[in-house]
Amino acid sequence: MKTNPMTDELFAYVSQHSPAPHPILNDIVEETQERSDRMMQISQDQGRFMHLMTKICGAQRAVEVGCFTGYSAVCMASALPDGACLYSLDINEETSRIAQRFFDEAELSDKIELMVAPALQSLETLLKAHGPDSFDLAFIDADKVNYPHYYEACLSLLRPGGVLIADNVLWGGSIVDESNQEDSTIALRAFNEKVFNDDRVSSTMLHIADGLYLVVKN
Ligand SMILES: C[S@@+](CC[C@H](N)C(=O)[O-])C[C@H]1O[C@@H](n2cnc3c(N)ncnc32)[C@H](O)[C@@H]1O
Repeated sequence: MKTNPMTDELFAYVSQHSPAPHPILNDIVEETQERSDRMMQISQDQGRFMHLMTKICGAQRAVEVGCFTGYSAVCMASALPDGACLYSLDINEETSRIAQRFFDEAELSDKIELMVAPALQSLETLLKAHGPDSFDLAFIDADKVNYPHYYEACLSLLRPGGVLIADNVLWGGSIVDESNQEDSTIALRAFNEKVFNDDRVSSTMLHIADGLYLVVKN
């Protein structure tokens, strides 16, 4: 039995039966749609998945690599209990200001700490501040060439049983198109092999949105 092919009608049905995590998400989509880099935002079905995964993990401390205008951060942070924190990392000051405005409007500022700096530097800061095995959930969605480095840094932060989700592992289908030899595509192919062969984790690839690697630290 193969997975059902996803028709527009089925996709609409799935969406109609999947509650939206937070009302501010419509505003984030609307404002981001006006931007030329809007394709960086995660899809709404992925957002709903991220929201529920955050709940399932019972996350108290989470990290996101790649905040952009804040869509995925709101999906995750709105599933956190009081006193829990999502550290959302991005290098871009302009989009981070937009994200922070939405976090304030959504009254989620007490649950999201935006760290505006190169993500590897912020991940090092988090490791120094909280120590290894101190995070429940990590989401990687930034520059693809650094995925292996983000993966290693996040694995150090995660506790055993902690969950890591890596975005864009199908890269619009380019991942299996050998004529595509762009740096990001090559990096993602190497990243996918790395995760597949990593006996420190249990993993499965999901074809939600642009493909997710769902990883649990053993
Ligand atoms: C695909 S977008 C993230 C989308 C976001 N998760 C959402 O739901 O809207 C990738 C982000 O990674 C950020 N980024 C790229 N290189 C980075 C780096 N070296 N350190 C931190 N952030 C970086 C970009 O500024 C961009 O906002």
